Amino acid sequence: LALVARSGDLEGLAVVVSAGGTREPIDPVRFLGNRSSGRQGVAIAHAAAERGARVTLVAAHLDGVVRPGPGIEVVGVGTADELGRAMDAAAPDADVIVMAAAVADYSVASVSDTKLRKQDSPGALTLELRENRDVVAGLVANRRAGQTIVAFAAETVGSDGELLDRARAKAARKGVDLLAANAVGWTQGFESTQNALVIVDRDGTVAAEVAGSKDDTAHALLDAVLAARAGQTG
Ligand code: CTP
Ligand code: CA
Repeated sequence: LALVARSGDLEGLAVVVSAGGTREPIDPVRFLGNRSSGRQGVAIAHAAAERGARVTLVAAHLDGVVRPGPGIEVVGVGTADELGRAMDAAAPDADVIVMAAAVADYSVASVSDTKLRKQDSPGALTLELRENRDVVAGLVANRRAGQTIVAFAAETVGSDGELLDRARAKAARKGVDLLAANAVGWTQGFESTQNALVIVDRDGTVAAEVAGSKDDTAHALLDAVLAARAGQTG
C-alpha cells in the first residue's frame, strides 16, 4: 500500500545520488579505501527511479552492487577528486542531491609511479596524506533555489543519543537540508542488507527514524526529502 501511495511522486525530478567508497591510490597496485559497500546509495537510486525520478548514480567502486535499471544513468568514479568533479558536473541540473558515498578525507600526497618496495622503507613506512576538499560543502555553497541536498554520516557512537547529537552537529556544520546518520563499528553497519537511520534537518529536528531493509530506509529517506521540499515551497 505504501508503494502504491508513493508511485510517481518523484515524477519530473532529477535526483543525483553518490554511492560507494572512493579509493585513493598509493602506487599502481595499492590504495587507501573504506568499508562502504554502496548498498544504501544504490537502494536510494533505485527507489527514486521507481518513484518516477530521472536518476544519476555517481558510483565509486560499485562493481557487483550496482544493478542496471530503467531511469538510472551510472557515472563511474574512483577517487574523491573524481567523485567531486562528477558531482559538480551533475549538480546544476539536480533537484535533489544525496551524498551517500563514503568520500576519502585524505589522499596520498605523492603517489608513486612504481610499486613501493619494502627495501626502500625498512621496518616502517610513513605516508603523507593531504586533506581532500569537502564535496558536499561545495554543493551547498553553490546550491540553487529549490535544490534539496542530503548528506550521510556513519558514526562510531556509544548510544542513540550520541548518534543524534553527532547528526545534529554535522547537519548544522554542513548546511545540508537533511542528514541521515547511522551507527557503525567493527561488527556493525557494513555489508548488510539492513540499516537503521536517524534523519535530521539543518535545525536539528528529527525528520524520520527508520530501521529495516536498505530499500525500506531508501524510501523513508525519499519521503523525508519530499516533506522537506513541501516545507521549503509552502
Ligand atoms: N563528504 C564530502 N566530501 C568529503 C568528505 C565527506 O562530500 N571530502 C560528504 C559525505 O559524502 C557525507 C558527508 O560529507 O555525505 C558527511 O561525511 P563525514 O565523513 O561523516 O563528514 P566529514 O565532514 O568528513 O567529517 P568526519 O569524517 O571528520 O566526521
Ligand atoms: Ca569524513
